[in-house]
Amino acid sequence: MEPGMSQASRQRVGILGVAVVGALVAACGTSSGPAGGPTSGGTITLYSGQHEGLTKALVAAFTKQTGTKVQVRNGEDPQLANQLVTEGKASPADVVLTENSPALTLLADKGRLAAVDPATLANVPSRYNSPAGKWVGVAGRETALIYNPKVIPTNQLPASVLDLAQPAWKGKLAIAPEEIDFSPVVTAVNKLKGPDVTKQWLAGFAGNAKRYDDNEGMVAAVESGQVGAAIINHYYWFQAAAEKGGAAKMHSQLHYFGHGDPGALVDVSGAAVLASSKHPALAQKFVSFLVSKEGEQALVDSGDFEYPLGRNVPASPQLKPFNQLDPPNLTPTDLGDGQAAQQLLQQAGLL
Ligand SMILES: [Fe+2]
Repeated sequence: MEPGMSQASRQRVGILGVAVVGALVAACGTSSGPAGGPTSGGTITLYSGQHEGLTKALVAAFTKQTGTKVQVRNGEDPQLANQLVTEGKASPADVVLTENSPALTLLADKGRLAAVDPATLANVPSRYNSPAGKWVGVAGRETALIYNPKVIPTNQLPASVLDLAQPAWKGKLAIAPEEIDFSPVVTAVNKLKGPDVTKQWLAGFAGNAKRYDDNEGMVAAVESGQVGAAIINHYYWFQAAAEKGGAAKMHSQLHYFGHGDPGALVDVSGAAVLASSKHPALAQKFVSFLVSKEGEQALVDSGDFEYPLGRNVPASPQLKPFNQLDPPNLTPTDLGDGQAAQQLLQQAGLL
């Protein structure tokens, strides 16, 4: 979720965005091109579930390089995916960029995505892409435990995310079950340990935890010592540190589970071209840009602290090196469309 914005305000942005998109659908390409339409100039429409600051930085860098304008509609992944399915061929969207892979899997399954250019896919290790070539991985996001050492001494840190269901954690945790980033962790536990363990774990974890709307709320609660720990994606801690003027100013720390634990899941933000795009060549160019040297540099420079998944630019040196995260061996295909996790969260009374 976008730093500093509540879920409600994100939804308002999404709804307001519809009118803006509607007004700009008529904008079109200007230069000549092959069968796929113009390859420069013009305007494309992007539906984005990614953080608004990051999306803005990527779009600005793309427009600067190509002259192609990008009309952005921001929203939450599930909302945008449902919208794209409902709109069908009439959708004004040319490109979709999601915060997490389940929305892309759903769109691919519904036949809404065109094949991404093979040269674009080749810029990213194949395990982070759609196996059918329907979307490309753009940014990696590591699940981690944020904790306040004044509440949770370092020698009491959990070895596994599964430990958070134990009675010793009663009253010490925060949980944000509606966060887009939490559902993939549930999927990971479900894939690795099965539904019975997952149900027990969710019930125990939820029973130990205070509820929050989003990751930002949990970061603030751990920072202040209101709670001891929470599961977040790594970049929320780094963003908070940047806002405070450096890691040394933080009261909280990040604990990486590693060891293939479901709590060390790397999830993938990715991009795709809509099958119904009226500007497929420009749309392919945008997706290609995201995993090019310039696109990855824009991602790193944005201050969003996600890991670029392509081969061109290293992540921020402040981050734990990507190859030392030791995540569970789960690909976006394993994570699927996230429906099973949603059902488990509903059964646990968390959604
Ligand atoms: Fe996020």
